[in-house]
Amino acid sequence: MDTQELRTGFTEVFGHAPAHTYFAPGRINLIGEHTDYNGGHVFPCAISLGTYAAVGANTEDAFRLFSANFPDAGLTTIALADLNSAKANSWTDYFKGMAQVLAKSGADFNHGLDVYIKGNLPNASGLSSSASLELLTGIILKATYGLPETMLDLIKNGQKVENQYIGVNSGIMDQFAIGMGQANRATLLDTNTLEYESLPLDMGDNVVVIMNTNKRRELADSKYNERRSECEEALRRLQTKLDIKSLGDLSIDEFDQYSYLIYDGTLIRRARHAVFENQRTLQAAAALKASDLATFGRLMSASGVSLAYDYEVTGLELDTLVQNALKQPGVLGARMTGAGFGGCAIALVNKDAVPAFTEAVGAAYLETVGYKADFYVAEIADGPRQLD
Ligand code: GLA
Repeated sequence: MDTQELRTGFTEVFGHAPAHTYFAPGRINLIGEHTDYNGGHVFPCAISLGTYAAVGANTEDAFRLFSANFPDAGLTTIALADLNSAKANSWTDYFKGMAQVLAKSGADFNHGLDVYIKGNLPNASGLSSSASLELLTGIILKATYGLPETMLDLIKNGQKVENQYIGVNSGIMDQFAIGMGQANRATLLDTNTLEYESLPLDMGDNVVVIMNTNKRRELADSKYNERRSECEEALRRLQTKLDIKSLGDLSIDEFDQYSYLIYDGTLIRRARHAVFENQRTLQAAAALKASDLATFGRLMSASGVSLAYDYEVTGLELDTLVQNALKQPGVLGARMTGAGFGGCAIALVNKDAVPAFTEAVGAAYLETVGYKADFYVAEIADGPRQLD
């Protein structure tokens, strides 16, 4: 998106010119799914699709917010004195939540700000449009009001917004992937210690294709919180004999030997996913370092199977995409990405095979599901930044 388009949009809404424009990306997760609230590893990267903003000061003592993606919602005015008021169940909650968290840690918003937002991440698609907006808000407020927060602080604040304001008990992966994003690199993060490594994503002749089910992630939040409590219950049962802090502390053998402590079919499958997925993520990062893309792809597919059958966060739409993707020539691996229950899947595909791939998977999806899927080749991009 060119910044002139943003500037023009801003001026049409607010009647004055903006001072600056900003961007924050979305993310895909290559592997390490539903491990970030289980003390495990994740391996995501930022993508070139994301959220843009044009901003300029006002004299209204308020944040005035407009999104070109939700024009019917109109202009939302939040008085600076009123940051602690209740949620509005609107996209503006992410901006307001971030402002509130920053105010609690001492930010002094000494004048109002007009903000025009426009994103090109498909909405509710599991590519983290919410974390993108949180980090975008974070860098805008930091730059405008000269706040001391580091990127890591903004990342942690973004998670607080989700957990304490929006009410989703999510981990830190999305905010971390976006905040620390670098072009053509993926972030291997230990969510237990927050130690991380940025690894070059050298995929040879292959690209990551994002496959969007176009199914909104409805119920996702309640099912997400349910999975999280199932893992917590499994951990509590393991802790009756084991001195561990999270499921991520367990090796595959330890889990096997002690799973009798859990003694419940569903809880064992949930915990097994968390333990195996953590180990798979470490193996996948090692495979990538060794340029062994065939192994990397197989681990992605193994992750997908575990998410479908042990963690049960897929459903007809994601299963149809992934199963058909795996049947195509030139495909090294495929899996859902993000929270699941709709949203997007990814596949590692040979560049030359992409047109035939999207045609075949698209046709099979339309036939089984009854509406279209969308396909994009992922560009692995830099993190949040001021544009001009
Ligand atoms: C969502 C959450 C993340 C993570 C993923 C699943 O994207 O926001 O914290 O738990 O689901 O891996």
